[in-house]
Amino acid sequence: MFRTGSLLITGANRGIGLETVRQLVAMESGPKIIFACSRNPESAKELELIQRNSGTCQVHILQLDISDNDSINTARDKVESIVKDSGLNTLINNAGVCRNRSFEDLIAAEMMSEYNTMVVGTAMVTKAFLPLLRKAAERSTIKKMAWNKAAILNISSLLGSIALNTGLYISYGACKAALNHLNRSISLHVKNSGIMATVLHPGWVKTDMGGPSAPLEVEESVKDLLKVFLKLDSESTGKFIDFKGEEIPW
Ligand SMILES: NC(=O)c1ccc[n+]([C@@H]2O[C@H](COP(=O)([O-])OP(=O)(O)OC[C@H]3O[C@@H](n4cnc5c(N)ncnc54)[C@H](OP(=O)(O)O)[C@@H]3O)[C@@H](O)[C@H]2O)c1
Repeated sequence: MFRTGSLLITGANRGIGLETVRQLVAMESGPKIIFACSRNPESAKELELIQRNSGTCQVHILQLDISDNDSINTARDKVESIVKDSGLNTLINNAGVCRNRSFEDLIAAEMMSEYNTMVVGTAMVTKAFLPLLRKAAERSTIKKMAWNKAAILNISSLLGSIALNTGLYISYGACKAALNHLNRSISLHVKNSGIMATVLHPGWVKTDMGGPSAPLEVEESVKDLLKVFLKLDSESTGKFIDFKGEEIPW
């Protein structure tokens, strides 16, 4: 068993992002290089602890605010200086924000800020890292997901499904629906390049966002998500899949 490939994940200082880094580092044959991104690396103490005990896995903690273009470009330059011609194999767009307001209580500035983070931010991060993903894709001929393939994984939510809409989380749901659409556009844009672009739903998870009533522990959700990641293949591109590997209706 050996480590291979590089992976970048946004919003890695807590919740699903942090647990993903923890499990990838513990995985015997996980990625060789992990770029764990946080808006405020100086306060990402748990990430630092993982980094100190990361063994054969290289963990780089990078400053990345996905709603700030300068921050995106600086992180991209840093990644490029480390991966060089190997490119970046996996981009996990995980960072997100969530508020639940009734329709009457919606606030325009708050809705725009959520859209700016989850849709515009995800689009700009993906755009910035696409040349590095293309480089990785040129070096990888494999069709199945592996840490040395080239893939974009967008962490969305069941609440972004129009078909399964329950009427709750109006702004968040609209942003995740837009993110799902964005993923579909990206998957078509990169169709012939060997890069996969898939939307994943992690389940309802006990994190700051999911709250204490969520049925899934974060360890459980991420364990299942990582199993699903590694089962994805070229047929999974452009699809909306949950942590059990089931397809979700748009
Ligand atoms: N938990 C659930 O039940 C659930 C269900 C479905 C989908 N999801 C999705 O799963 C993903 C992770 O959620 P979570 O439960 O782990 O949430 P969380 O615990 O609230 O963590 C959110 C992460 O996103 C980061 N973030 C927010 N805005 C950012 C920005 N502008 N730039 C960079 N990072 C930013 C946060 O950084 P700071 O610490 O700096 O704020 C934090 O690291 C999200 O996309 C969420 O929508 C979660």
